[in-house]
Amino acid sequence: MINDTEKQKSPIGIFDSGYGGLTVLSEIKSLLPQYDYIYLGDNARAPYGNRSFEIVYEFTKDAVKWFFEQNCHLVILACNTASAKALRNIQQIDLPQIDSSKRVLGVIRPTVESVADFTKTGHVGVFGTSGTVKSQSYEIEIAKLHPHLKVSSEACPMWVPLVENNEFDKPGADYFVKQHIDNLLKKDDQIDTIILGCTHYPLLISKIEQFLPKSIQVISQGKYVAESLKDYLHRHPEIEIKCSKNSVVKYFTTDFPEKFVDLASLFLKKNIEAQKINID
Ligand code: DGL
Repeated sequence: MINDTEKQKSPIGIFDSGYGGLTVLSEIKSLLPQYDYIYLGDNARAPYGNRSFEIVYEFTKDAVKWFFEQNCHLVILACNTASAKALRNIQQIDLPQIDSSKRVLGVIRPTVESVADFTKTGHVGVFGTSGTVKSQSYEIEIAKLHPHLKVSSEACPMWVPLVENNEFDKPGADYFVKQHIDNLLKKDDQIDTIILGCTHYPLLISKIEQFLPKSIQVISQGKYVAESLKDYLHRHPEIEIKCSKNSVVKYFTTDFPEKFVDLASLFLKKNIEAQKINID
């Protein structure tokens, strides 16, 4: 007999504009394998990085509402652009209207919390989408938590299309990777730590490391987002109790599932199935 609390339990939602959030999902799954997850990539409308504040907010809200229709109690925006441009409004304006018992969390704060442990020079670099860089979300959050750090950011508008089109490990990617590394280091040559402030970028990590001086460390945020989620669930038993635990992951995309499955299986190093949905 399943009681009412069991019936109300549901998966944790993980959202990204496309494939990038899979880098976060992988880390979350390996740290918290007991929970169920629903992954949604809005591939049909990716990339979000060059879009306006209003559009990213609208698209992200569509996704969040869809997760709530699936009964998710907790949604992670595994997307820096959505975290930078939509999270605040969703938390402050939409959640109180839709359902104040639901929670939506982002990826910027957990990444910023970890950065001071890495830098020795106090000079930090951020690679991100144009939207994330223009929002100055990293500068603002770092100034709050670690005011002694100097931050320089570089927008890399071609990096997400390279990933979304499966060109991230091809020779053509070299030019765009090297170009942005050179630009960032020209802004500040004392940088010793770089945040990959876009969940797509870990897929370019071998190219990035190829062109980056060995003395510079790169922070991929998945691990820190996963640790922060674990801590959050520990601090919020009222949310944790609503998360179902059968170790099941389901994948959804707004584009052709065949395309999603091919690339996602490559990233996740295992075969998956996905369903197409409409959220707009
Ligand atoms: N992966 C996302 C991010 O972390 C979005 C990239 C995009 O759609 O431009 O910013």
